[in-house]
Amino acid sequence: MTRASWRTRIGFILAAVGSAVGLGNVWRFPWLTAENGGAAFLVLYLAVIVLVGVPGLLGELVIGRRARTSTVGAFEALAGRNWRALGAVPLLASVVVLSFYTVVGGWIVRYLVGSATGAYFDAPAQYFAAIDHGLGAVGFHVLFLAVTAAVVYAGVDRGIELATTVMVPAIVVVLVGLAAWAATLPGAGAGYDFYLALDVAYLRENFLDVLAAAAGQALFTLSVGAGVMVTYASYLDEDRSLAADGTIIAGLNTGIGLLAGLSIFPVLFALDVAPGSGGPGALFISLAGSFASLPYGRVIGIAFFAVIALAALSSAISLLEVPVAFLVDEYGVSRGRSTALVGSGFLATGTVAALSPSAFALLADTIANLALTAGLVGFLLFDGWVLGRDALEEYELGAGRLARLAGTPWLYAVAFVLPVFLTFTFLSAVTTTAGVPVEGTTLAALAAAAVIACIVVLRRPSSVL
Ligand code: PFF
Repeated sequence: MTRASWRTRIGFILAAVGSAVGLGNVWRFPWLTAENGGAAFLVLYLAVIVLVGVPGLLGELVIGRRARTSTVGAFEALAGRNWRALGAVPLLASVVVLSFYTVVGGWIVRYLVGSATGAYFDAPAQYFAAIDHGLGAVGFHVLFLAVTAAVVYAGVDRGIELATTVMVPAIVVVLVGLAAWAATLPGAGAGYDFYLALDVAYLRENFLDVLAAAAGQALFTLSVGAGVMVTYASYLDEDRSLAADGTIIAGLNTGIGLLAGLSIFPVLFALDVAPGSGGPGALFISLAGSFASLPYGRVIGIAFFAVIALAALSSAISLLEVPVAFLVDEYGVSRGRSTALVGSGFLATGTVAALSPSAFALLADTIANLALTAGLVGFLLFDGWVLGRDALEEYELGAGRLARLAGTPWLYAVAFVLPVFLTFTFLSAVTTTAGVPVEGTTLAALAAAAVIACIVVLRRPSSVL
């Protein structure tokens, strides 16, 4: 059986952008920005995207294209059987993220319908509290999962590529329309100020917390750490510049995230809604609630939730593809059977998340960040210390002059700097969650020690470093 592949390069890029652009951009990003001091968060977030996100994304693309097989098998194909275990972490990360993702996807479909009927207009907070878990939430999760599975079932080129080639441009067009409309609202200026004006004092006081939140969000929004980018790059059958592709993917994703902020903050400020209120429910309570008092609120609501539904769908597709491809590649299961099997598993895990708010919060707030971070650290250490020279060779295939110049610094970054930084944010998230505050410098020393210990174990003769 010949392995599936993308039909065109742009198809691959749009599929990857579709994965990256999702709830992270429209739901999580504005809410985290609001909670972490507006522009202060934005600045750190953009820095982390450039310095950590893009090189990390490249680290995954290099592994996938070189191995031409999906997440777990990629480690074996490149370094031997003993390395397979490293693939368990990203595989698990994809399961964790999709398990709560389809529940939020279900909420969105419900709000899409609710925008047409005005169901949430009168009492948005009560409406959200009534639908966010329970049997209704299970039903909408199942519906969202079924659509996701149908696309994955249809295949890499005829399902994923075709769907995302239509969806991503549609998202951009509607978001541009929404941002333009939001600019016409009286009071929109206060929203831009909050979003775009930097509060240096806030940043100085809360630096570590804001940094950790920005790092978690950067990984989440770029879809790294769960093997999505490895799997998608494994379907490439030509050697074009991965550095160029990765930069385009991250650039489009960030641009679409900023655009989402430009359509959300003016609305909130025009209507005097506190942007930080409501946490994860912010989008569904503050923003959705504000549609009720706007002219053409129903139309705006429909456009808004349609964009989010498309964005969420293209990300869910990529998450489902990780375990589906794993069964196809490793056990020779047909795509149809694999989709059915994996889909039934998610039917169950998503149902738990839809019934239990505490299970949902644990997955969405804590475990997802930790699993994505650990997954990415594994990929990067593998690039730096196991593949070494081979990773650089793969990076250079098809790369232009500028990208080549960045090759060696990139390898040093993924081999050491990024793993230390990511381990640092991992430890800081763990200690904060556990309620044991530890000094930043102590954490940094611990992170460096942990990474060095890993390197001693992983390092192979082929490593150039
Ligand atoms: N990037 C997606 C978003 O921003 O919503 C979420 C996501 C997809 C995270 C795929 C991780 C992943 F592997």
